[in-house]
Amino acid sequence: MIILGLETSCDETSAAVVVDGRRVLSNVIHSQLVHRRFGGVVPELAGREHIRRIVPIMNEALGAAGKTLADIDGFAATFGPGLVGALLVGLSFAKALAYSTGRPFYAVNHLEGHIAANLLAHEELGEEFLTLLVSGGHTMLVGVNGFGNYTVMGRSLDDASGEAFDKVAKILGLGYPGGAAIDDLAKTGNPAYIRFPRALPDPARIDFSFSGLKTAVALYVKNHPPEEIQHHLADIAASFQEAAVDALCDKTVIALRRTGLSVLALSGGVAANSRLRAKLQAACDHLGVRLVYPPSELCTDNAAMIAAAGAIHLLRGEQSPFDINAIPYQKLI
Ligand code: KG4
Ligand code: ZN
Repeated sequence: MIILGLETSCDETSAAVVVDGRRVLSNVIHSQLVHRRFGGVVPELAGREHIRRIVPIMNEALGAAGKTLADIDGFAATFGPGLVGALLVGLSFAKALAYSTGRPFYAVNHLEGHIAANLLAHEELGEEFLTLLVSGGHTMLVGVNGFGNYTVMGRSLDDASGEAFDKVAKILGLGYPGGAAIDDLAKTGNPAYIRFPRALPDPARIDFSFSGLKTAVALYVKNHPPEEIQHHLADIAASFQEAAVDALCDKTVIALRRTGLSVLALSGGVAANSRLRAKLQAACDHLGVRLVYPPSELCTDNAAMIAAAGAIHLLRGEQSPFDINAIPYQKLI
């Protein structure tokens, strides 16, 4: 089954062609640059940019896959969570394509898309694992017991982990979005330079909190001379990253112990973080757990993961009604 997927929930316009939900033929991602000078995503501009880009990006994805619209067996697009004006572009376009070609259509939950990225990246992966879903909008530990059957074990009580990376990057003058920039800069810094707080140390809790950590970095920067901050920028980035990664690792280990699951799958943009991958690899080695994560281009927002999730539902004979709406605050379950 050849699925065309569309992703327009935030500031990436993406189209992909995926076979049977497991094999990527093409995955074209256009990251909108228009937001950079505002230091964050401007919803109205995101929607307008998606409208401008969606047709050429889809044509590029079809061309790269060596397919035409006539070859597509079904269409999938994100319906939420995300920015409503942005979501509506991909969702409406996918509905129109399905309606006009008479092919089925499935509206995909963006969070389920992130989970599906691992099924795309690891063809032999079964459907039972713990996933640490870490993105710009979400931070959750989810037990997967068959695709579509989820138990949320913990989540952030305030900021998402990616949001903390982005806000700290902004404080340090590293631009937006800044997760990858912190990751790069931290490689040359000392993670033990400052001990920033690790929130919710109580092992009985699996939830996360990142807003205190962000504030601690902001206060540190405010209370030290600018020259000193500039001189130790890499050390501060590394120290912040260490605190964020420690919190993610500690709670993930607790969830792994509690569930007894033998596979940990990372998903979402922050899953691209090199320190998070390294620390979780060490923890998993110790526990005898297999760690998997998608390649970086499938961690951050992309349409291949949306096509993969849509394909799994369509292969089960499930379809979405044409009157389904975009839902900005859609939950995983
Ligand atoms: O999954 P994603 O593309 O979008 C959402 O659904 O939110 O995640 C984007 C987030 C941003 O906050 C970005 O800074 C973060 O992922 N990110 C990273 C890295 N690469 C992207 N955070 C830490 N380290 C990275 N290497
Ligand atoms: Zn995402």
